[in-house]
Amino acid sequence: MNAQQVLGQFQATGVQTCFHGRHINPQIYAGLDGTNWRLKDYEAREGYAALKKILTDVNDAGVKGLTQDQVIATVKESALRGRGGAGFPTGLKWSFMPRQFPGQKYLVCNSDEGEPGTCKDRDLLMYNPHQVIEGMIIAAYAMGITVGYNYIHGEIFQTYQRFEEALQEARAAGYLGDRILGSNFSFQLHASHGFGAYICGEETALLESLEGKKGQPRFKPPFPASFGLYGKPTTINNTETFAAVPWIIRNGGQAFLEVGKPNNGGTKIYSVSGDVEWPGNYEIPLGTPFSKLLELAGGVRKGRTLKAVIPGGSSAPVLPADIMMNCTMDYDSIAKAGSMLGSGAVIVMDDSRSMVESLKRLSYFYMHESCGQCTPCREGTGWLWRVVDRIHNGHGKPSDMDLLNSVADNIQGRTICALGDAAAMPVRAMIKHFRHEFEALIQRAETPTPALPREGRVSNEARSA
Ligand SMILES: Cc1cc2nc3c(=O)[nH]c(=O)nc-3n(C[C@H](O)[C@H](O)[C@H](O)COP(=O)(O)O)c2cc1C
Ligand code: SF4
Repeated sequence: MNAQQVLGQFQATGVQTCFHGRHINPQIYAGLDGTNWRLKDYEAREGYAALKKILTDVNDAGVKGLTQDQVIATVKESALRGRGGAGFPTGLKWSFMPRQFPGQKYLVCNSDEGEPGTCKDRDLLMYNPHQVIEGMIIAAYAMGITVGYNYIHGEIFQTYQRFEEALQEARAAGYLGDRILGSNFSFQLHASHGFGAYICGEETALLESLEGKKGQPRFKPPFPASFGLYGKPTTINNTETFAAVPWIIRNGGQAFLEVGKPNNGGTKIYSVSGDVEWPGNYEIPLGTPFSKLLELAGGVRKGRTLKAVIPGGSSAPVLPADIMMNCTMDYDSIAKAGSMLGSGAVIVMDDSRSMVESLKRLSYFYMHESCGQCTPCREGTGWLWRVVDRIHNGHGKPSDMDLLNSVADNIQGRTICALGDAAAMPVRAMIKHFRHEFEALIQRAETPTPALPREGRVSNEARSA
């Protein structure tokens, strides 16, 4: 079946589609065809209507616009949770910004997107950049911020160029800059591109990098809300988090909440990769069963069965198939099952996958990406990789299982940032659910090779003859 037929099949079943994915009730991907990213196209999709609603529209009671408190209250009501990884409530985060602070305050968008498996933010910036810009302007208004930056992953230069073009359009139309839409509110937004280090996605490392320094995480507290960019109060949100905001302001917090489930408002974009027929980005309401998402992605590769899933990017603990098939795709359900929804990168593994090999690959990544500031992470990630590597290469020892758990114990919770936890958690989960695969390889390494039958042996004399 070709891509067009696949889309046709989904259209026939009432599932909304766009040029590169299949969605249910999309709020961010709605109406995208891969080319209609420009300002005029976005305006035709109700673009910047939310900004007009808060700055210029007069409501039925004759009141103009929305106050900062009203915007924050609407976002709180929507139960929007940060789409960057931790799922922190966005409205609550915005309320931490000390609005009366007399000096400069900053807004930062985290488009670093380095988590293996995640590929949604780059699509948002390529195909719907104005929705991110509008979300940022609304956030800046709500928190009384006048300067913002979008920190864009450095390895994909096109997204940076596209975002710059969209910024120019927004400035020319009066949506950005001084006295936006004739109001008293001004906001300057700039694009900045990183250099491709995974650690620069961690919010304080990102701030260091944005300041032109080496991208290494800061000790917390103080948190960015009080000591952020250049030491000033700063709010950082993920690209998809900002992109969700215009819909919320246009339709109300309650409407957004109702699309998802309690405490998990709205839709979420899942980057489905691995052993499925149609990998891609899928936007579906939070709370949708995992089985439905798998179905949208065409199911597990033909002739194979589902073995395991990493539900939220490489740092999320793996879950076996039977647990995953009973989960719904939302923050609370996945946490209850023992993992994390994280960035929404769903890595599907079928029965042909070796868990030891998969863990070896993951451990190598974390060893490579450790910034080296703290000893447990710098030394421990290398240790984890070396032990998993020797098990995989047939040189494991029975004590290696305890050793892996002990090294993971000594990393988790003992580091400056969560990269240490991200390296330790997959190890513990793999051992918890797939211990038998590690033990089988270790046992094979321990079993002495049987002696060759007499006639098969070659004497030293014969060899040298
Ligand atoms: C090692 C590491 C890498 C991260 N990478 C990203 C990233 O690429 N994008 C992102 O939005 N958040 C990333 N985060 C989470 C951010 O620190 C931060 O929590 C997030 O940007 C906040 O936005 P949100 O509240 O909208 O989710 C990362 C965290 C860690 C520890
Ligand atoms: S946990 Fe690792 S990545 Fe994070 S600050 Fe420490 S050494 Fe750097």
